[in-house]
Amino acid sequence: MHSVSRQISCSGKKIGLVPTMGYLHEGHLSLIKKSKELCDITVVSIFVNPTQFAPTEDFEKYPRDIEHDNKLLKEYNVDYVFIPSLEEIYPSGYQSYVYVNEISKKFEGEFRPAHFKGVTTVVSILFNCVNPDLAFFGQKDAQQAAVIKQMVSDLKYDIEIVVCPIVRERDGLAMSSRNVYLSPEERTKALTLHKAILYARKLIEGKEMDPQKVIGNMKVIIGEEKSIKLDYVGIVNTYGFREADLIEEGNEYYILVAARVGNTRLIDNELVRLQ
Ligand code: PAJ
Repeated sequence: MHSVSRQISCSGKKIGLVPTMGYLHEGHLSLIKKSKELCDITVVSIFVNPTQFAPTEDFEKYPRDIEHDNKLLKEYNVDYVFIPSLEEIYPSGYQSYVYVNEISKKFEGEFRPAHFKGVTTVVSILFNCVNPDLAFFGQKDAQQAAVIKQMVSDLKYDIEIVVCPIVRERDGLAMSSRNVYLSPEERTKALTLHKAILYARKLIEGKEMDPQKVIGNMKVIIGEEKSIKLDYVGIVNTYGFREADLIEEGNEYYILVAARVGNTRLIDNELVRLQ
């Protein structure tokens, strides 16, 4: 990967990296489309990264289908697919980690304490292997994108981070590799999360400027669905993920939600811009 990347860079071409854990869907493909639009060469990495899963989480049963992924990537004319082995990324004796402090502790970090340390470590390794000019991440994992932007700024990576909008199913469910875990009944119940976010956005657009009131309304909507176990709802500034004390005109916010539907943990968000 190093020598391929060096050759491409020497010829003056721009490399775009789309890091993924595979089991590709339209959400991943939207990042690939964006990379192909902005870069000369697109590299997609597929690596199910064990260090971002807690021992109680779904690393072992995380869905994998390399054959199908490769077929899709061929259809999309992706230039390179980088599929390193576990031993290549974390050889025995591996010792180094990248940790972004404050921003990794809240929201997802509260419920998955070691998660972002695993993400920033592997993304940093992938950046070093591929040496991209641009790297593409989804707003679906908005906090992940914010943590990576912080890492890139702090560690002075010469890489532009591009965040692409959430791709949804027709009924509004945010696409995710983990949606395959949902039973048909759970899948219907999962729609409540997006319903609550859309209601919150309507309140804010109607000039409800008190985040606690908006959050209270979301909790009522989600609370009506007894089988959903809420982890958090929040309203944060898009840059830095600071909780908003007051919603102000001219600013951008993410309305966030994370919950478990049955045994499946889902996250979702919407961007709101108040003119
Ligand atoms: P994974 O869950 O495979 O997602 C890869 C990229 O696709 C992430 O940037 C994610 O935000 C984006 N994505 C997922 N669903 C999306 C959707 N519905 N719409 C738009 N983008 C979507 O995120 C990871 O892998 C890993 O943490 C990784 C960054 C690869 C590090 O291991």
